[in-house]
Amino acid sequence: MYARIVGLFWVVGDLAGLALAQTGPIEDLNALPAPELYQRACAACHGSDGRGYPGGEWRERTGLLTPPPDFTDPKFNSREPLEDWVAVIRDGGRPLGLSPQMPSFGLVLTEAKIRELAQYVKSLGHDARYPPGELSFYRGHRTTKAFPEDEFLLISNYERLRSGGTVFQETLYYARRIGPRYQWEVKGTSAFATGEAVRGEIEVGLKWAVAYDLAHRWIFTVGLEPALPVRSDEEWSATLYGTFGKALGDRWTLQSSLYLKWSPPAGAEGWTLRWSGVVHGIFTSARRGLFPALEWTVERALHAGVRTRVWLLPQVYAALSRRGHVALSIGPEIPLRRDPDVRFRVRAFLLWDYADGPFWMGW
Ligand code: HEC
Repeated sequence: MYARIVGLFWVVGDLAGLALAQTGPIEDLNALPAPELYQRACAACHGSDGRGYPGGEWRERTGLLTPPPDFTDPKFNSREPLEDWVAVIRDGGRPLGLSPQMPSFGLVLTEAKIRELAQYVKSLGHDARYPPGELSFYRGHRTTKAFPEDEFLLISNYERLRSGGTVFQETLYYARRIGPRYQWEVKGTSAFATGEAVRGEIEVGLKWAVAYDLAHRWIFTVGLEPALPVRSDEEWSATLYGTFGKALGDRWTLQSSLYLKWSPPAGAEGWTLRWSGVVHGIFTSARRGLFPALEWTVERALHAGVRTRVWLLPQVYAALSRRGHVALSIGPEIPLRRDPDVRFRVRAFLLWDYADGPFWMGW
């Protein structure tokens, strides 16, 4: 290993000697302003306008195996936090599960210059209508994510009943962004209970990121989710919600949602109010890692004679891939007051952020 590195230095030294002999002192790249440095060090692969050969010429022109991204696309550009790009430029593509052909510049450029470059590349596709990826906080189970997403989830709930039976509930969830601020989603749920017919529900939803503030690191989103039963003898419902997300210092994030649900009642008893929130702890700067979280839910039917119910859901969010785009989250949901029917409940989901690439890439 050391011999190889020394060997490399010999080669580099020789090249430097050659350059010196031919052109005088080597220029210090750190002295160049970011736009010029970009043209020198990055444009060969990323294109001089940052669009990365959108016509597909990258195959012939660059010898790359992965197409370089289009930095001028505001949807792509806004989604990636600045710090991630600082890390990619410093350490290369590999540590974040990107193509190893994205080289590392940490040995050549100063940290300040790398930051300046990252900011320059960010500026190529800046569009303030798109909320920035810094405000994309980890997902909880009962709290809605505030950031609009391109995601696919498999959600599983398992309940052990006091009667001895079990209930499995499986949900497939698909979300897609539309334009700068919207997201639509569709959710299909089936519940399998021992000794009972399968129940099911289709939910569609529209979410709108109303406002955000990057300096204070918050985002506010509202949404509407009508749910239709698959069998005709069940009720439909509609839920209106608002979700607020905020970073609490560097190590914690909070998301909290307030839901108002209505289902056509027999009497005037159709309204339910629910408040959920989740706090995640972030103790690693890598995307892959374990992120502990605590979630709470308070639910109250808005008619007399029904008790308020409270649950706590300690959980762990495990970002599995180096790219962070595949994650698993699991935790037991514990009622504060003994549940007369349910002995034990576990919630889990497997998440794939498909905008960050295929499921199998970036590990
Ligand atoms: C040898 C070719 C090459 C050079 C030179 C190069 N890059 Fe890259 N870069 C790539 C490739 C390929 C990717 C795509 C990686 C992927 O998507 O897996 C990439 C990805 C990136 C990303 C990506 C981010 C993301 O989150 O998807 C940033 C930022 C970036 N490069 C910045 C730079 C900067 C700044 C320079 C110049 C200092 C530079 N690159 C030089 C090939 C290169």
